[in-house]
Amino acid sequence: MEPNHERESTVPLPKPEPSQPTSELSKNAKKKLARQERWEAKKADKKAAAKEQKKKETERKRKEWEESIAGITEEERVKVIEARMSLRKERMEKRLEEKNEKKERLVKAKELGQNVVVDVEFSHLMTPQEIRSLVQQIMYCYAVNGRCDTPAHLWLTGCEGEMDNQLKKIPGFDKWIIEKENKSYIEVLADRKDDLVYLTADSEDVLEELDLKKIYIIGGLVDRNRFKGITMEKAQEQGIRTAKLPIGNFLKMSSSQVLTVNQVVEILLKFLETRDWKTSFFAVIPQRKRSQADSEGNADNTVDEDIDEDEEEESEQKDDLLTSKKQCVEEIPSNKLVDEV
Ligand SMILES: C[S@@+](CC[C@H](N)C(=O)[O-])C[C@H]1O[C@@H](n2cnc3c(N)ncnc32)[C@H](O)[C@@H]1O
Repeated sequence: MEPNHERESTVPLPKPEPSQPTSELSKNAKKKLARQERWEAKKADKKAAAKEQKKKETERKRKEWEESIAGITEEERVKVIEARMSLRKERMEKRLEEKNEKKERLVKAKELGQNVVVDVEFSHLMTPQEIRSLVQQIMYCYAVNGRCDTPAHLWLTGCEGEMDNQLKKIPGFDKWIIEKENKSYIEVLADRKDDLVYLTADSEDVLEELDLKKIYIIGGLVDRNRFKGITMEKAQEQGIRTAKLPIGNFLKMSSSQVLTVNQVVEILLKFLETRDWKTSFFAVIPQRKRSQADSEGNADNTVDEDIDEDEEEESEQKDDLLTSKKQCVEEIPSNKLVDEV
């Protein structure tokens, strides 16, 4: 099968330097900068509005509570307070129980689960914002994995430099039940080289099944696909197998078949649960990225190469990332897709 997009140079594109005078920037860089500034302004407005809303809500709840206990006898007041405390205790106990169950599942996965590596050796190619975005995606992957009945055993390899610094800043990261390695997977898993499969949209091989004996590697990269073919080249140079997800067998995409790290992890997790690619793709790939579902499973494999989403969508994606950042790692709702390629 043909690779789904042509190779282009993997040389990093010049990025607008903040210190560079705006007049010296290219037309594209100016547009990008303006878009960034609009997004920053929108983000600040949204943050202020959310803060205000939270304040109002806290105040409303406080008033509601005070009204509910005003005008009742002391005896009734004690009862109401006790009932409230007991409810709180129950909730905390439930949370603790869920946390322990999650821990058990992840510990078990360490021994018996499907190994999935996120290769984070690309931080030198990403902007600080892209690194932050990747860290958000990794947080999201960990949260989703923890909620699965059949979690995978996640690895982060090549954790060096800025990437490592940012990962260490994640609250509770040191307690994550994963394999975290500063070295590359190719060193750490040298004795399992034959089992390594680098997942890449540029592979000519299609992943048919997940094999528990294999170790699937995902490129930890947020690059809006400016480094086309970079993971494919890396795997080929290292002499390890590659495979692409069988998206073309089930879906027509409105744009590229290149998915985000968290989408790929989620698809693998869904597949581990269902053993059904179609269900997994439909559950994870956002509607807007699909052009037409082929229920007979014979969608053609042609894709457009345009991954430039419109501004509105980009801003929504960033909002998703912001939302996931604000939430505790364990509490990211499953319907929030982190969606920055
Ligand atoms: C945002 S993509 C990075 C794209 C990058 N330009 C590259 O060449 O890999 C993140 C990673 O998700 C995985 N991935 C994305 N789409 C995929 C697909 N259709 N099939 C297999 N793996 C995919 C790859 O491991 C990829 O490196």
